[in-house]
Amino acid sequence: MLRSLRNRGLARLIETQPRLFLRLKGLASHPIANAPEFLRLHAQMVREGEGMQLLLERYNLWAQGRRVAGQPGAWAEVGVYRGGSARILCEVKGDAPLHLFDTFGGMPAVNPATDGAFRPGDFADSSLAHVQTYLAAYPGVHYHAGIFPASAAALARENPMFQFVHLDVDLHQSTLDGLRFFYPRLAPGGLLVSHDYGDPTVPGVRRAFDEFLREQPAVLTRLSGTQVLLEKSP
Ligand SMILES: C[S@@+](CC[C@H](N)C(=O)[O-])C[C@H]1O[C@@H](n2cnc3c(N)ncnc32)[C@H](O)[C@@H]1O
Repeated sequence: MLRSLRNRGLARLIETQPRLFLRLKGLASHPIANAPEFLRLHAQMVREGEGMQLLLERYNLWAQGRRVAGQPGAWAEVGVYRGGSARILCEVKGDAPLHLFDTFGGMPAVNPATDGAFRPGDFADSSLAHVQTYLAAYPGVHYHAGIFPASAAALARENPMFQFVHLDVDLHQSTLDGLRFFYPRLAPGGLLVSHDYGDPTVPGVRRAFDEFLREQPAVLTRLSGTQVLLEKSP
């Protein structure tokens, strides 16, 4: 109740006084100040109380997505949870198909040797029905419920090319599987963004990137926070 009131107040501040909001956040000179469309979306998501990503992480997804929006190729996200980050992809993807991969019922098996404090069943307070309802307004969203990468087997047979991929899976094996599946299928100039690289509480993500980049050299760019970007050479 208190949280919902606080969220409504904050959403109203962002909508009615965006400059003051950004000044309070120390972001008055950040490119976000020139993205009123994004700020309106952020305000809506704050009001709804959905999404785990922080303001700048949301902005990075939105801004990187816009770099390739309209280019041929599908979009994908592995690690959807309740649909927060997928909502941002939906807003920028245009007509592109978006493939969403999650168990939609919590973390699968976890390896304590690589995955820190995560446990199977974390993030279980979601469901396929919840995300389908949350994203119902957006066309071209395809749901792949189950454990990735097995859940991608049918799609792999169609051999689609991807323009934009978001990985937010927290686990070492899931991240490595995501990189191995999507990087070879990225279109020239296509982008892959991952959350949690270098976050000490999410050690498996960096470990997976380090391993993958030894197998497949690619340029890794750090965005603000813990997000990183791989860009397929054109
Ligand atoms: C941190 S949450 C994702 C948060 C979401 N991107 C957001 O911004 O709200 C991580 C999700 O990854 C999913 N996940 C991790 N490994 C998976 C795998 N191998 N297959 C399917 N889902 C997986 C979990 O079920 C969980 O919902």
